[in-house]
Amino acid sequence: MAKITASVYTSHVPAIGAALDLGKSNEPYWRPVFQGYEYSKQWIKENPPDVIFLVYNDHATAFSLDMIPTFAIGTAASFTPADEGWGPRPVPVVQGHPELAAHIAQSVIQQDFDLTIVNKMDVDHGLTVPLSLMFGQPQAWPCPVIPFAVNVVQYPVPSGQRCFNLGQAIRRAVESFDRDLNVQIWGTGGMSHQLQGPRAGLINREFDKAFLDRLIADPAGQAAVPHIDYVREAGSEGIELVMWLIARGAMDDVNGGKPPILKHRFYHVPASNTAVGHLILENQQETS
Ligand code: DHB
Ligand code: FE
Repeated sequence: MAKITASVYTSHVPAIGAALDLGKSNEPYWRPVFQGYEYSKQWIKENPPDVIFLVYNDHATAFSLDMIPTFAIGTAASFTPADEGWGPRPVPVVQGHPELAAHIAQSVIQQDFDLTIVNKMDVDHGLTVPLSLMFGQPQAWPCPVIPFAVNVVQYPVPSGQRCFNLGQAIRRAVESFDRDLNVQIWGTGGMSHQLQGPRAGLINREFDKAFLDRLIADPAGQAAVPHIDYVREAGSEGIELVMWLIARGAMDDVNGGKPPILKHRFYHVPASNTAVGHLILENQQETS
């Protein structure tokens, strides 16, 4: 059967992608950001997933005010990096996993979560920047990716609690797929940032640190935090953090299993307008 072995959490700041694409990752401003991912690049080489279920948000790229799916699963065979105004990033096309994606859609919808099925979609920095941070600049991404887009841009947005519950449903869906696959689930976006209005530039280190602590040790408690608290404390784009609860909800301990192992934790301010946060949590191996 397929199994979720680990979850990865990371910010997705577009300027990080641009820094990498333009060969600036060694500049003094960017070096500390990329250093925070050195361990992670080695870890993922040693723990290569067969498939990544990548929770992210589209930034009015594939979707617009014309159509606003709360939760959308990418079921296509491939996804092209989007042109976000400066041409598409020079990164590989993302290969999907249509069979697993269709199975997850079937299972999660039957568990009473309404997903939008997306058979054609371009993917923006929300998805490609996390891949770049974890894999660097390969000729091809090393494994298929199932894009899972969450609306955290246009109100109303889903609550952290709904995201956490959805993660549990995704876990059940993955684990009922009848093939031996090592699946990682990634939660992306955040941490605190606000891009517009009088509070533009807002960063809240205390909130971010408490979020990381609680996501690791008390995810059910963190899931109960209402969405408006993220907006108030972490800025209008800090709401992206609810997506991390989807990945966290899919881990073993939430389903009565053992607590995950914290493999890596990183926090850095600033990158562009954003606090960068990053975690790797591994499920404990089953002993038979
Ligand atoms: C920035 C951060 C984001 O999450 C985003 O989607 C766009 C821009 C920034 O910090 O500039
Ligand atoms: Fe964003």
